[in-house]
Amino acid sequence: MSKKVILREVGLRDGIQMARTFLATEHKRDWAKALIEAGVREIELTSFVPPKVVPQFADADQLAAYLPELGGAVCSALVPNLKGAQRAVQAGFRHINYVLSISEAHSQSNVRRSTGEAIEELRKINEERRVSGWPKVTLGVGLATSFGCTLQGAVDPERVYDVARQVVALGADELIAADTVGYANPSQVRAMLPKIIEIAGGRRVVCHFHDTRGLGLANVVAALESGVSVFDTSLAGLGGCPFAPGATGNINTEDTAFMLESMGYSTGIDIDALLKLRRKVESWLGDERYSGAIARAGLPKTFQYVN
Ligand code: COA
Ligand code: ZN
Repeated sequence: MSKKVILREVGLRDGIQMARTFLATEHKRDWAKALIEAGVREIELTSFVPPKVVPQFADADQLAAYLPELGGAVCSALVPNLKGAQRAVQAGFRHINYVLSISEAHSQSNVRRSTGEAIEELRKINEERRVSGWPKVTLGVGLATSFGCTLQGAVDPERVYDVARQVVALGADELIAADTVGYANPSQVRAMLPKIIEIAGGRRVVCHFHDTRGLGLANVVAALESGVSVFDTSLAGLGGCPFAPGATGNINTEDTAFMLESMGYSTGIDIDALLKLRRKVESWLGDERYSGAIARAGLPKTFQYVN
């Protein structure tokens, strides 16, 4: 039996939050539909932030209206605070990803509050979920800058574990260990992920890597070997946090799928279909930083999908 790995596509959220062009809602819908046709089974579809903070997501509510058409995938939304969580659930999302930063400097830059205040906000979200008659909603929590921060520099792993413990105690269903700015290396991943998995206590652990310094796929292998089987990836390697200087693209979905399938892990993804979609996305977005070795070189003749 082949081992399965889930690639959660974040191109429609992380991927376009810094894009210069506002992408029409219908194009976002078409993008998501094409992902599903290509075998992608989890999509972070949008973000419920104030439009003045990230204008790209001004249409989050309109895009959510297409959720019934996107039933082929688990669609989630990023939320930066209680208001965002309320909006996302109201709009129809049943999976929300709340993000807080381990680095105080990034926390202030990203959400204008300390890490402690952001943990307090999580308490409010979980409390609202518990008391206010929300339908069943899964709550993922992203631990941004877990491996280092461009603003602050080093991030103490003990602090990551401490915040992770608090987040689990406050009701998180899933932990997302995020290398927001591409500072992680495989040794660090190998050292930290077993501990994070232990703290998660059976809850799902997702890794969110950026390829800013070329170590993205090496980090995936290190995480795989540590027991992680869900990764955030972005079509064409788009992405980056507008509130973290120097942040660039997420690990590339096509390249990650290629590597995993070559290693005997089944992703369910049709890489050629992604390459076709990628060309469409490039025509919609225009001048952006696209990355990816498979888009450049093509799949090798010897390549075979696991199944
Ligand atoms: N969606 C829409 N509007 C929101 C909102 C949300 N999630 N959260 C707050 N607002 C509105 C408030 O209602 C208020 O509106 P008003 O001026 O009409 O009264 C206004 O925005 C300011 O609210 P406030 O609570 O003071 O927020 P803020 O200005 O301190 O911003 C965040 C805090 C968290 C909302 C903002 O910093 C943010 O969105 N950060 C996320 C950035 C991001 O997307 N990073 C990349 C992904 S990790
Ligand atoms: Zn990211």
